Amino acid sequence: MAVTQPFPRIDGELWAAESRVADLVAEFGSPLYVYDAGVIEAAYRRIESAFAGADILLAYSVKANSNLEILKRLRALGAGADIVSQGELHRCLAAGFSPSDVVFAGVGKTEVEMEAALEVGILAFNVESAEELQALGRVAERLGRPAPVALRVNPDIVADTPHEYTRTGDGASKFGIPVDRILDLYRWAADQPSLEVRGIDVHIGSQILDPEPYTRALAQVLDLAAEVRAEGIDLDFVDLGGGFGVGYEGEDGLSVEGLAAIVVPRVAETGLRLILEPGRFIVGQAGILVTKVLYVKHSGSKTFVVTDGGMTELIRPSHYQGFHRIEPVISREEAVREVVDVVGPICETGDFLARDRVLQMPAQGDLLAVQTAGAYGFVMASNYNSRRRPAEVVVNGTEVTLARRRETLDDLLRGEIP
Ligand SMILES: Cc1ncc(COP(=O)(O)O)c(C=O)c1O
Repeated sequence: MAVTQPFPRIDGELWAAESRVADLVAEFGSPLYVYDAGVIEAAYRRIESAFAGADILLAYSVKANSNLEILKRLRALGAGADIVSQGELHRCLAAGFSPSDVVFAGVGKTEVEMEAALEVGILAFNVESAEELQALGRVAERLGRPAPVALRVNPDIVADTPHEYTRTGDGASKFGIPVDRILDLYRWAADQPSLEVRGIDVHIGSQILDPEPYTRALAQVLDLAAEVRAEGIDLDFVDLGGGFGVGYEGEDGLSVEGLAAIVVPRVAETGLRLILEPGRFIVGQAGILVTKVLYVKHSGSKTFVVTDGGMTELIRPSHYQGFHRIEPVISREEAVREVVDVVGPICETGDFLARDRVLQMPAQGDLLAVQTAGAYGFVMASNYNSRRRPAEVVVNGTEVTLARRRETLDDLLRGEIP
């Protein structure tokens, strides 16, 4: 994959690698997701080289963007995978991932999901409760195949993420196991012939820009790891989770180099393998959502730019109050700048891409690019209002690959019994 800058503007026009974004829309329609594989590779390599001093598995967090074309490209770079469902496992296997590079998190794994993951031989289940550990032991016994486990620690750390829904490490969240229960559960697991203790895990949240909460979480899990080992229970790895933040407003993302400078020597001392589960950092900046202006509507004191994409294509603004830069695909320098709401066509007041945003006033038919939409974009798209989910295109240098076609009207009826 060629390494490129994300979506450069040349002579006032937005490009995706070697393609004009406007040409891609002319070919594949609007709204459209466009991903630059070179940008994905650059982000992946940046983490890989920052953490080169550790024995590391980069387990890409599939939930961020699970398009097969992207999974295949990440696999080719050597990535493992962090999954949260049987569906994500299915995708990873289809994309050629080795099950032995897959870790499985989530508070509500079903026995069917456990069986499927055990049968293919994943690296480890990141277990989130005593009850899940017991269920996994039962499933493993039934299959006659010991289950590899790591316990996910809830370190009771509140990471400073932009929205409370992306914090997973505080004591009040549903994730992980409280620190004071961890040692007893390791002792119990170590006594079960159907369980094989492999590691220890933590994930404190998503869109974190400061290494500091990771430092605290790492200290806690390494202390716990030492206590577990002191009981004669072997551990192979420590999994620090993902959550590495990107710059949605043009600011710097998390300094992975700064984080690595803290993490690598501490983990190296323990001899443990290090697993990281970045999602957003790898694909976030590599994607845009392109949407067409349908109408510019003046209503009372407000101006609404109504686009053909909205919360069904990108729910982050509505669900997390997420900020995404919005730019014209072809700049109109002569256009006045105005404060507008960019809204979609969905029948919800909460359907917006931006509120009170200063924008070069677009005209009907203009294209807008919603930036940093590569993560938690298409994967959270829905068919609400019986809308067809958009196409996804991957560019790589001069190459253009339609990675998912736009849904058809018949796709909308698929699975329904008339
Ligand atoms: C367990 C786990 N690992 C990794 C991630 C990936 O987070 P991010 O995309 O912010 O790196 C998540 C996201 O919520 C997660 O729940």
